[in-house]
Amino acid sequence: MALSRSALLASLLSAGLLSACCTPAPAPTPATTPETHAAEPIVDPHSHANTEAFRTQLLRLDLTVDFDARRLRGTAELDLARIDGAADTLVLDTRDLSIDRVEVAEREGAYVATDYELGTADPVLGSPLRIRMPAAAARVRITYQTSPEASGLQWLTPSQTAGKAHPFLFTQSQAIHARSWIPLQDTPLVRTAYQARIRTPEGLLAVMSAENAIADAETRDGDYQFSMPQPIPSYLIALAVGNLRFQATGRRTGVYAEPEVVKAAAWEFADTENMLERCEAIFGPYRWGRYDLLILPPSFPYGGMENPRLTFASPTVITGDRSLVSLVAHELAHSWSGNLVTNATWNDFWLNEGFTTHLTNRIMEEIYGPARGNEERAIGANDLKDTLELLEIPSDRTLTPDLAGRDPDDNVTDVPYEKGALFLAYLEAKFGRAEFDAFLRGWFDSHAFRSARTGDFLAYLERELLARHPGVVSRAKVDEWIHSPDIPDDAVWPQSDAFDRVDRSRDEWLGGTAATALQTAEWSTRQWQYFLDRMPDTLDDAAMARLDAAFDFSDSANAIIASRWFRLVARHQYRKAYPAMQRHLESVGRMLLINPVYRELAATPEGLKLAQAVFAGARDGYHPIARDAVEKILDRAVATPAP
Ligand code: BES
Ligand code: ZN
Repeated sequence: MALSRSALLASLLSAGLLSACCTPAPAPTPATTPETHAAEPIVDPHSHANTEAFRTQLLRLDLTVDFDARRLRGTAELDLARIDGAADTLVLDTRDLSIDRVEVAEREGAYVATDYELGTADPVLGSPLRIRMPAAAARVRITYQTSPEASGLQWLTPSQTAGKAHPFLFTQSQAIHARSWIPLQDTPLVRTAYQARIRTPEGLLAVMSAENAIADAETRDGDYQFSMPQPIPSYLIALAVGNLRFQATGRRTGVYAEPEVVKAAAWEFADTENMLERCEAIFGPYRWGRYDLLILPPSFPYGGMENPRLTFASPTVITGDRSLVSLVAHELAHSWSGNLVTNATWNDFWLNEGFTTHLTNRIMEEIYGPARGNEERAIGANDLKDTLELLEIPSDRTLTPDLAGRDPDDNVTDVPYEKGALFLAYLEAKFGRAEFDAFLRGWFDSHAFRSARTGDFLAYLERELLARHPGVVSRAKVDEWIHSPDIPDDAVWPQSDAFDRVDRSRDEWLGGTAATALQTAEWSTRQWQYFLDRMPDTLDDAAMARLDAAFDFSDSANAIIASRWFRLVARHQYRKAYPAMQRHLESVGRMLLINPVYRELAATPEGLKLAQAVFAGARDGYHPIARDAVEKILDRAVATPAP
């Protein structure tokens, strides 16, 4: 995905050293005793919450969805465990919330008002909500409403949906946006079960990252109850409301989508049940009950989001040929790496995404064969090489970046995903697949329902793999993978015959063979993507015109291929395709598909002007997170004009 994944690179502000230890979160009977750790508490640089004093055990939400005002209104109740008996203040995370009332209660007693104070807003972290906690208080109830600009909510008008008749709302809490719609301890160090009552206009359906009653899809009375019994980190709390239907794809799997989309979605993701079964066979039991997908409107800013029991997905992965189902494999794999064993802070993000990328490749190979697995690996490795060239801050090229003072969304680059996966593939190659699969399963079992730091993984790796097979991989080599901004020399780079064939076709075309004479009939989305991504910098208008005439890229219904094409269009200033490029930027809001195009445009003064004009028109249709990311790209180009 190259640079595309990164929202934009902000500058490094401060360097806070984090201490090593694992979360003492309440866990439903972990299979084995987790690591023992130093007593020092972990500090999450992306939260104001005083988690060393209080820990949330249960969250209860009662929210009304007001589409006219673009606000959620209601209450959040937190049941708390007191870790520090002397603590008299609870600090929660908030961003742009209006607080109407704060009350406290003893474990069983009635609520009484308490004093509270909303601190000054930090641009990255939001405002701390400081609540006075009498000695016996064990619960707090906050009456509040969200802002129409909440960073974690997107309110869509009917025209932005497939059916054009009903409004739509969805949340995106990762990384630190849950605080923009719920006052809570917004850190992956804390896990909590939750319950919710959501009131919507009649006829619309609410769904959450929780147990969803499939029967609700029939009644749609506007009053919905949810329960998430397993403790999860705050970034996995999710809600969507719209004109949704459900269709099963298997015993434990199905899709929610607008009626116009649900059939195509169910066809596209027919392999989901199979993926779930194969995952369980390799990585251990699926601990979340059902696994459903929710297909969102095209403004969803990501390809997918692993909200437990209910992955949120972009409609751009429905291509009609099942060519992008690795996205489902990826989000499903998070049910182990991420949702079950969670990165303790956003500096440990590779524990979520690097592991998940490795698992994705493993599952794709298991289901579709080694060639497909290698394609996925090769496209990732290819993107990683590009990204490493572009990241300016050396620690951003390591698996242990220091994100204190920065938005964790800025670290969503190929480094945690693909360098992380390359490291795990290296270990697999050294120790053998059977051994490594079992090792990973052991990691998930022994750390289930806990948050882990990179140090926890390294201790586990040393004990369970390196020490048992002395002389295979040294600790120094592991440290190089984790801490060096480069890739170790003995990395195992993937090789894909399918891409070798693409390289040959591209060479033939560049050598004068007509585009229409190339053998492309069987190419997958990944192959097209690779074909376009590895074009030389010398394409002129005539060459671009020949490509477009032969393959109709400007009108491609496949948003991935279209995006890679429009990146070239912007880079080579192929003006004939500008209207189509503009339509692309106006019709999807998935950052992977729009940010790279904006970035290319912003590289020249004329392109920047066009980018600004297109953005001015498209902005209102983008999610606040995507809006922010594009703004950063354009602002940065203005601040550092091209020579
Ligand atoms: N959890 C991520 C999305 C995310 C990361 C959201 C960080 C906010 C902050 C999700 O699992 C993901 O990685 N999505 C990818 C798709 C995947 C197939 C690589 C995406 O959206 O591109
Ligand atoms: Zn992911």
